Amino acid sequence: MGAGIAQVALEAGWAVTLFDPLADATERARVRIYDGLLRRASRLEADADAMEDWATGRIARLGLAASAAAAATDAHLVIEAAIEDLAIKQRLFGELDRSSPPTTVLATNTSALPVSRIAEGARIAPERVVGMHFFNPAPRLDLVEIVAGAGSAEWAVERATTIADDWGKTPIQSKDSPGFIVNRINRPFTLEPLRLLRAGAGTIVEIDDAITAAGFPMGPFALMDLIGIDVNLAAARGLFEGFGRAARFRPSPIQEELVAAGALGRKAGRGFYRYEEGRKLGPASRFERVERSVPGAATLAPEAIAERVILAIANEAYRALGDGVATADDIDRAMRLGASHPFGPFEWVRRTGIEEVAMSLDAMSDEDADTFRPALALLREARRTRR
Ligand SMILES: NC(=O)c1ccc[n+]([C@@H]2O[C@H](COP(=O)([O-])OP(=O)(O)OC[C@H]3O[C@@H](n4cnc5c(N)ncnc54)[C@H](O)[C@@H]3O)[C@@H](O)[C@H]2O)c1
Repeated sequence: MGAGIAQVALEAGWAVTLFDPLADATERARVRIYDGLLRRASRLEADADAMEDWATGRIARLGLAASAAAAATDAHLVIEAAIEDLAIKQRLFGELDRSSPPTTVLATNTSALPVSRIAEGARIAPERVVGMHFFNPAPRLDLVEIVAGAGSAEWAVERATTIADDWGKTPIQSKDSPGFIVNRINRPFTLEPLRLLRAGAGTIVEIDDAITAAGFPMGPFALMDLIGIDVNLAAARGLFEGFGRAARFRPSPIQEELVAAGALGRKAGRGFYRYEEGRKLGPASRFERVERSVPGAATLAPEAIAERVILAIANEAYRALGDGVATADDIDRAMRLGASHPFGPFEWVRRTGIEEVAMSLDAMSDEDADTFRPALALLREARRTRR
């Protein structure tokens, strides 16, 4: 993520200094960034010489530092993208705080750790600590969630927002709550299909096909293979803990088994599907047929599969709205930009009819109350529409 974010800043003409404690990591990042800049240039410039000039000009402004402190000295903005470990981030922010001028904004790219706890644990003044959460791949996905912690100053939040905007991104403000906007609301996109798979509602191919037929660019099992089943499991665990072990965020035993067996997805050559030289072959043998953990359960039609997944997402969106995570419009925009959804959850509810959505959720809540019990904010809106 660090390399991707550095590329975004370089493209915008900024000077960037990278630091990573792992030997070679920054050198490898430089190679990746240069490739990325050339690809970007091929869209901007017509001839090969001009392309190379543009990319060379940008990469010339990339420096490598031997310590976090050295990278932060004189920086206008620091973006931390170290591994997702609270103690490591707290230690780093302590160091960054000591080595940079007090006007430097210190941002974390954490996916799920509370921004407030990073400053607290580092025992530093929280004013200039904010969240700037980019999406993967950062050069391609336009969303940046801007997270104000409990002690973040308005000037720091504003500065982070303006910079993201100047870099050609779409900054959207989120409350400092588990998973922010997209990682929370999109959790059912993988967890609900995993529950359907276990219940025997369909095979991974049938479920993936049902979701792409509903307009999503990729099915949930192909997506988990792409991002890494271990990465997806870690995100599910983070949300599960962050929401006090709420049943709807409980990771699936199927994810746990695959990770334990080293079937991590595309990068391991096997996950839900099998891969050869990066090309997707058929499903892994255990996923070829419907396997039921629920006796007597029936297979579901593609429309019913898609409806269940979208309903679970929409209900979580209303919960997040009720919790004050973001406005409905911002949630819709964030889900389109950060998760590449074909529509925002509120847009979908409006189109389907809130009354019908409330009834469908109600009907499903007998089976899985925590996921489908209609969110209070949804019931309130349904009541208002009835009047
Ligand atoms: N991968 C994603 O899709 C994604 C998306 C958005 C946000 N994030 C967040 O971005 C951060 C980085 O994720 P990633 O996927 O790039 O992880 P990664 O494991 O690919 O990279 C993390 C890097 O941090 C370095 N590191 C370890 N200890 C460090 C320290 N003390 N100081 C500085 N660097 C240190 C490692 O050497 C490694 O190069 C995490 O907080 C993650 O939650 C990831």
